[in-house]
Amino acid sequence: MKLIPAFIFPAMILLGAAAAASANPFPDGNALNGQKIFEKYDCNRCHNSIMGGDGNKIFTRFDRKRNSPDGLIEQIGMCSGNVNAHFTPKETQDLAAYLNIFYKFK
Ligand code: HEC
Repeated sequence: MKLIPAFIFPAMILLGAAAAASANPFPDGNALNGQKIFEKYDCNRCHNSIMGGDGNKIFTRFDRKRNSPDGLIEQIGMCSGNVNAHFTPKETQDLAAYLNIFYKFK
């Protein structure tokens, strides 16, 4: 068995706490509600045909358009026009929290 020096442990705990504190760029968003909105507005309707089946792949394709939390928020604003919706800031956060399941922004 390898011994881990005792000083490593506090460092690991601190790193863990820092990671947890910065892990969610959409702290006000409710992913479950975001998913409901996403399904209600049939958001993947176009993405499905763009991606030839699984619209969710648009969020993880290697050349995806949006690569920051702000960019994602902006795109939700743009695509809300596609479904004639005017999402509140809270609804936008909910959608972003849901979509971050794919984007995995920290
Ligand atoms: C009328 C068709 C249409 C609808 C409906 C639609 N979108 Fe989109 N969406 C697009 C197009 C087109 C793109 C850009 C694809 C490209 O440029 O390759 C896109 C891209 C996106 C992206 C960025 C993907 C990336 O590359 O990072 C997000 C996020 C997104 N849509 C969210 C939504 C949400 C949320 C809704 C529902 C409120 C929605 N879309 C409804 C057409 C649509």
